[in-house]
Amino acid sequence: MKRKLIILTDPGQDQAAAILMILGRPDVFDVLGLVATAGNIHLDYTLENCLKLMVLAGRPDIPVFAGCPQPLMRPLVIADHVHGPTGLDGPTLPAPVVRPQDGHGVDFIVDTVRAHPGEVTICALSPLTNLAMALRKAPDIADKIVEVVAMLGAYFEVGNITPSAEFNCYVDPEAADIVLNAGIKTTLLPLDVTHKMLSTPARLEAMRALGNRCGVATAEMLEFSQAFDLHKYGWEGAPLHGPCVPAFMLTPEIFSGRQINVSVELTGRVTLGMTVADWWQITDLPRNAFWVRDGDPVAYYDLLLEALGKLP
Ligand code: BDR
Repeated sequence: MKRKLIILTDPGQDQAAAILMILGRPDVFDVLGLVATAGNIHLDYTLENCLKLMVLAGRPDIPVFAGCPQPLMRPLVIADHVHGPTGLDGPTLPAPVVRPQDGHGVDFIVDTVRAHPGEVTICALSPLTNLAMALRKAPDIADKIVEVVAMLGAYFEVGNITPSAEFNCYVDPEAADIVLNAGIKTTLLPLDVTHKMLSTPARLEAMRALGNRCGVATAEMLEFSQAFDLHKYGWEGAPLHGPCVPAFMLTPEIFSGRQINVSVELTGRVTLGMTVADWWQITDLPRNAFWVRDGDPVAYYDLLLEALGKLP
């Protein structure tokens, strides 16, 4: 049976790569809808970017919903310094051909999970605002979600938006805290693993050489967004975060990690939004997440290229 997905996302070039990777594997994934999230850029842009990506991938039939325009309790922090003023700068993407769905993304999550109890996986490529809102509005859905697989957090690699916090957690730490304490099976793909998945020149060239519009556009997007990270880290390529989520769902065996307690710092003076990962199981706190620490970058990029190559 195909895996039913709701994608929470704020594209963002690496989210775009992840979404395209998912759409390139319709043999495995059944995408029920996307919920645009405020994160890398403001909601009006992330919504428009989702719609453009559906056209690029030849899937304007997939419903796109607007989620919340801001985090639960804090002003929105964006990352236009990485992703550009539209959040998805780089190539010129096709204009949307359909409107966003009527109704709110939070209600879409609630209604869809209730309609398919025990069947829906939440694929989170963004701050967790809309899932947290859905859990607050309809706590019964926690038992009905198969799993949350999220790009979120950092521990061994420390932070990327502050010295201690990863962006998706920092933007809405209260939402991450709600989700991590909801009793849902959860897998986190933190910077500890995404920092090993570097978009080297050879990998981007292979992507471009696919020759199809999705492969070329993804290479152009990543060439834009990697500039900030190449300068910041001085590595041979930039970390490619988002596609770790579908890659984990496709082939968990290329990753390794541990089931541990993960707590989110909500009050720290200099550690707000930090994910405190109890890697050595020092506490007796519930082991609420599978924390992925390592992965095989060669297999990862092979999977990504294979999926992108199946798209228009
Ligand atoms: C996350 O932050 C965003 O800026 C990236 O797109 C990714 O989702 C990495 O910390």
